[in-house]
Amino acid sequence: MKKNKVVLVGCGAVGTSFLYAAINQGLASEYVLIDVFPDAAEGNAIDLADTMAVLPTTFTSIKAGTYADCSDAEVVVVTAGRPQKPGETRIEMVSDNAKIMKEIAIQIKDSGFNGISIIASNPVDVLTTIYQEVTGFNEHKVIGSGTTLDSARLRRLLAEKLEVAPTDVDAYLIGEHGDSSVPVWSKTTVMGKAVKDYLDEEKISQADLDKIWKDAVNMAYVIIEKKRATFYGIGVCLARLMSAVLRNERQIFMIGAKLNDQYNHKGFYTGVPALISANGWEYILEWNLSTNEQAGFDKSSSVLKDVVEQARKAIA
Ligand code: 2OP
Repeated sequence: MKKNKVVLVGCGAVGTSFLYAAINQGLASEYVLIDVFPDAAEGNAIDLADTMAVLPTTFTSIKAGTYADCSDAEVVVVTAGRPQKPGETRIEMVSDNAKIMKEIAIQIKDSGFNGISIIASNPVDVLTTIYQEVTGFNEHKVIGSGTTLDSARLRRLLAEKLEVAPTDVDAYLIGEHGDSSVPVWSKTTVMGKAVKDYLDEEKISQADLDKIWKDAVNMAYVIIEKKRATFYGIGVCLARLMSAVLRNERQIFMIGAKLNDQYNHKGFYTGVPALISANGWEYILEWNLSTNEQAGFDKSSSVLKDVVEQARKAIA
């Protein structure tokens, strides 16, 4: 019988922002918090429990727990890892966070967990790959946050330029959650109107699009410089992905999925469109990318493959 039980590993700003979003949306019934610092798990559990008598769609329990609590959970969300420093790239965190991810993966595997894992720890494409390799879980049951947040940023920036609502803009970054992500302008529309038409009508220029892309890619650095970390955007993205799993939505998101020859690459997780259901990610949607888009994706894939090798060496 579904318990609607969710375990969070990592009670820092990202993890607790995810949890706060999930609780406010009434997504689950039971929440368990795990952190290497017990007070972080216990303090946040108590603080969030204070919402139970107030929220209209409340939950039945929230507690600090252990990896044994994963055994009967539907979803485990992993956000643990050291935070990105100002000016540091996500990839530069790989050695430190790969070792942390290996330990977490082993303990989740040993708990007998058989649900869906959602990974957000950075560099997320690489750490999702490591997590899936260390646990040996079916790759379809391991979801990376991928370029969900990157694409949300691109949508918002393009919407601002065109003076429409971000929800009316379908725009996508594919590849690494990070500096080498690639805009898929050939599939970008505003309520079905192709961005190419906006270019032809001179309502926007290629220079505008290039700036929007760069601003989306650099958004995290700007936020981190100002407030030391990003967490609300990714927190809501994680809640959205978990909602799609728990409610078996069969919606397509820009998540981290493991390639198996799609887009001409295989063997690692990266940001691609994939359908999410209660079974995890069911399939990767294959677009016909433009020559430039494919070249950008090839470059991003090459970066990720190198960093995955670094991570494998770091945990060997
Ligand atoms: C972000 O893009 C830092 O990966 C985090 O906000």
